[in-house]
Amino acid sequence: MPVSESMISGLIGLNRADDEGLVAQLTSQLRSLIAAGRLARGRALPSSRRLASDLGVSRNTVTYAFEQLAAEGYLEASHGRRPVVTIDGAERIEAAGAVASRVRSARPQLSPWASQLRQTDWPMSYQAPQKPLRPGHGDFREFPNEVWARCLRHSAVRAARRELGPVNRTRLREALAHYLATSRGVRATVDQILILPSAQAALTLIAAALVRPGDDVWVEDPGYPGAAAAFRASGARVTGIKLDEQGMQPMPGMAVPKLVFMTPSHQHPTGRLMSLARRTAFLRSSRPGKTWIVEDDYDGEFHYDSRPVPALQGLDAHGRVFYVGTFSKAMTSDIRLGYLVVPPALVSTFEIAQRHIGLIASSHIQEALAEFIADGHFLAHLRRVRRLYHARRDHLVEGLERHLGEVLSVEVPSGGIQLVARLKRGRADQAAVKRLVDAGVETRALSSLALGKPCDHGLLLGFAAWRESEISAAVRTMASCF
Ligand SMILES: Cc1ncc(COP(=O)(O)O)c(C=O)c1O
Repeated sequence: MPVSESMISGLIGLNRADDEGLVAQLTSQLRSLIAAGRLARGRALPSSRRLASDLGVSRNTVTYAFEQLAAEGYLEASHGRRPVVTIDGAERIEAAGAVASRVRSARPQLSPWASQLRQTDWPMSYQAPQKPLRPGHGDFREFPNEVWARCLRHSAVRAARRELGPVNRTRLREALAHYLATSRGVRATVDQILILPSAQAALTLIAAALVRPGDDVWVEDPGYPGAAAAFRASGARVTGIKLDEQGMQPMPGMAVPKLVFMTPSHQHPTGRLMSLARRTAFLRSSRPGKTWIVEDDYDGEFHYDSRPVPALQGLDAHGRVFYVGTFSKAMTSDIRLGYLVVPPALVSTFEIAQRHIGLIASSHIQEALAEFIADGHFLAHLRRVRRLYHARRDHLVEGLERHLGEVLSVEVPSGGIQLVARLKRGRADQAAVKRLVDAGVETRALSSLALGKPCDHGLLLGFAAWRESEISAAVRTMASCF
């Protein structure tokens, strides 16, 4: 039924406690009245002053709502005049419905890249909100948000005086070059370091710039699905290389690939550390300019039992290694920052590619992070959480061995944020994961990380993100499920 002018305010109910602001609430309620045909084409709405006073809100609230609806084509609003409804709601809805159903039934012709990505199970969909012992995270609750907020504020205040231009901010590159050299043995000049929104962005950039259809790429098996997905999408022939105690094994006799992807600090998912001998064997078998190695050091900051083995990149004298890192694990994944150390011969190509794809991280955040690192907060945070995660790893291992020792065999990683517990009997890890998730423990099936036919069945369990009391409760739940 059409509504008279005096009734309009009576049909609107605004809630100041609602997370959705007053403007958004008013806009959406007026839009619904028009769409339902209750405010018909040609009807003048009350003036912003009158509606504001009837609703007890500021005049700006009403003006912003009118402007939004005018921009969407529902109203015509000109200065000094009452806004007028310009469409017939019923017609608009019918037309929109017809278009939507045509769009749904049409088959879009996707690029090979997008078609390939649609076939992968990555990024996987996790339960939200996360449950203990979801793998792949540090404990965001431990992040010093007050200190970070100060760095963000300083960055914002300095923004007006900042040099515009460099997409990879010099202060952050310098801070990273120093940190990577002293902590990870990475040898890089400042211009070799690109700042990106994530480690996954670094893999996408490498795939886009180097991989041609049919190129051979080796990845670890089981391994990190995001890497296989990025290289396959560019048309690579991806081969999974099995692991032994020292991680990925070089494959004498196999055709030399264009690219080898590995996680030598803590193999994802097993957590195994690649020995120095194995690292040099890979370097020896990679011909400069022909085979590139991508070293993903996603959680190399976390080592507990021994001093960290220096990065493969630092052992390479011929510029064959890309070094990928992320702040998602060491700080928080909300920060959306990663980096890529590019071999010298490819720096300018990668800078061009980075700008073309638009993989550019916010200068604001880059500057804040540069201060966070330069003032020592990053290392202080790492020192603190490293102690915490070490204790949590031991707590989880102890709990699993004590309560589930008969069914699970735990592979204790020397570092990292997660561990693998293999099923001693049976090969039904996916069914076990489902049972556990239903009971409130979130894990990932080892077999789902296999590239080829899965040969190992087990659970990938995160320990870093969970307090000892949460870990104990999760282990008790697991024990009741098995
Ligand atoms: C081995 C490995 N590399 C890279 C990434 C991606 O990190 P980012 O969040 O920075 O894309 C992950 C995320 O889980 C990972 O496990």
